[in-house]
Amino acid sequence: MPIQVLDHETAAKIAAGEVITDPGAVIKELVENSIDAGSTRIDISIVDGGKKEITVMDNGSGIMSEEVSLAFERHATSKIHRLEDLYELNSLGFRGEALPSIAAISKVSVKTQSRKEDLGSYVRVDANKTHIIRRSFSPGTSISVEDIFYNTPARLKHMKKSNELSKDIIQLGENLALSHPDISFSLTVDGKTVLKTPGDDNLHNCIYSIFGSEFGDSLISIDYENKPLMISGFLGKSNYTKSSRKYQYTYINNRYVKDTKISRAIEEAYENSIMINQHPVFIVNINIPPHMLDVNVHPSKTKIKILNESLIFLLIKDGIRKTLRDNTTVKEITPKVEKVYSEDKNIVQQEITPLLAQEAPSTVEVLPKKVTQKNSSSPELPKDTNIGQWKPQTKEKDLFLPIKEEKQKSKVLEDNSLPAEKPKINHEFADYFKHTNVVGQLFHTYILFEGEDYILLMDQHAAHERVLFENLSQKLKSGDKITQQIIPVNIKLPPSDYALLMNHVDVFENIGFEFDEFGDNTICLRGVPIFSNKVQDSSLLLEILQEVDKKVDVKKVDAFQELVIRIACKKAIKANKRLSPQEITSLIDSLIACDYPFTCPHGRPILVKLTKYEFEKQFKRIQ
Ligand SMILES: Nc1ncnc2c1ncn2[C@@H]1O[C@H](COP(=O)(O)OP(=O)(O)OP(=O)(O)O)[C@@H](O)[C@H]1O
Ligand SMILES: [Mg+2]
Repeated sequence: MPIQVLDHETAAKIAAGEVITDPGAVIKELVENSIDAGSTRIDISIVDGGKKEITVMDNGSGIMSEEVSLAFERHATSKIHRLEDLYELNSLGFRGEALPSIAAISKVSVKTQSRKEDLGSYVRVDANKTHIIRRSFSPGTSISVEDIFYNTPARLKHMKKSNELSKDIIQLGENLALSHPDISFSLTVDGKTVLKTPGDDNLHNCIYSIFGSEFGDSLISIDYENKPLMISGFLGKSNYTKSSRKYQYTYINNRYVKDTKISRAIEEAYENSIMINQHPVFIVNINIPPHMLDVNVHPSKTKIKILNESLIFLLIKDGIRKTLRDNTTVKEITPKVEKVYSEDKNIVQQEITPLLAQEAPSTVEVLPKKVTQKNSSSPELPKDTNIGQWKPQTKEKDLFLPIKEEKQKSKVLEDNSLPAEKPKINHEFADYFKHTNVVGQLFHTYILFEGEDYILLMDQHAAHERVLFENLSQKLKSGDKITQQIIPVNIKLPPSDYALLMNHVDVFENIGFEFDEFGDNTICLRGVPIFSNKVQDSSLLLEILQEVDKKVDVKKVDAFQELVIRIACKKAIKANKRLSPQEITSLIDSLIACDYPFTCPHGRPILVKLTKYEFEKQFKRIQ
């Protein structure tokens, strides 16, 4: 094929493909134009996930009549005039590409009127032809985009389903609204208003209106300045975390950016104050002088390059750390040795001096319970071979087999701690406990067993997780009643979570939730899974929702199983929880009744064995 210049239309469609990837990108571009136009109110509405129609209406400056057709020319912008202006950029747009790109792949109509003029313009752009009629409108601009990708069939074919697009757009709406609390945003999806913010320039009110009070009350404000950087917004307290990063909103100079590096830097500043696999929430705006930024990295303008990035990251971390530290009310205390059981019950508590010089003192609570007294020796568990560190190896094949999914026939537990009436016994597993006594609980996390020439440590959380997982899997398979009715409670959800929930009602019903729609992104929860101990607590529902959000297809078996695991994890006894002797006994009995009691549902070991031989090696009693 000889070299030839592409015709105007083909070139425009190709260029548009970089800016406009989906209906969400149209909304982002139109809303950013409205923001740049100084609007105080922006109303977005979509039909059919934005595939059929998108409208963005604002009360901003409007477009002057003589400029209106120019707005649809490529590289026509009112925001910069020369390249150097980029270093002083105060607007979100600057490329002069969004409107022509949108017009290249859809049918666009515009109603706009400048405050400075008596008449406005009605513009219809069709197949790159612009028809303009002079008419009177209220000041501002309203742009409607119909039949997106109607002339690019390949893009059209690969678009997501409408409800998924709507959910993404709702999330984008939340994001844009949070970037500008001074603007009142509304979003209407198929005729229903799902988001509305007050626009009173108070970020906390904006957060409240989107996420509700529980979220809003779990935040601390940040106001940090260390030149050249300023951080403002809100940070989640370290005890208010989520299992996904969905609730981390970072803006640079009030621009919505998709930059995971900044989020990670903020997350790192939380350091060890949050639990593993949990993520902090935050809504922060980082102000950096425009000359230190390059926004012209990608046509979507959601990526950003920062000059002297490592310094900026250091300052960000410093700001977050200081704010968190200043807001910590509970100071760290050195653990005290407490008596758990009274001495008249003949239960002794003793302090063990550190096993190794660098380790902190720990306590063992000594309990009077013998587990099993049979006359055979226990099978081999992984041995500790690390010098100076008590790190058991966890590679032993026969102990840590992968989960046998097909075999889930354990006896059920009636609640979180009590065993079923006649628990069956997994003899293979029970053998490990022969000749052992329960010595007590270590660090309120591990249950310590002593045998003749070895000790066993059982992770209480992993063990209980396994018990609940098998119990729940069995209940779900057998079709037993899995819902308990509760006093109905109304739960307001962030709009995107509400949309997600409505898209997956069947998944939630299948695992035992019962609820009705209540309007205003609120559900009335009537029933919860039978094993939920805090029945009025919406956190399990929210937690599962985040899990659903991560999965592409929750109807797949492994994804569904992941949900069940998540529930088990959520409801299982946590580490750092003191257990009574009865609870320990009950947990062991329940675990022994499991089909596969060797690992938690994710495959982490439940039981670790350390031999006397290894102890003696550590203390150099033997070589
Ligand atoms: N809602 C609006 N209110 C007022 N003026 C607008 C509005 N939307 C667009 N315009 C005008 O139309 C011009 C073209 O918009 P367009 O989005 O294509 O480019 P841009 O915003 O300048 O740059 P970018 O391509 O980076 O978004 C803008 O520069 C602005 O002057
Ligand atoms: Mg623009």
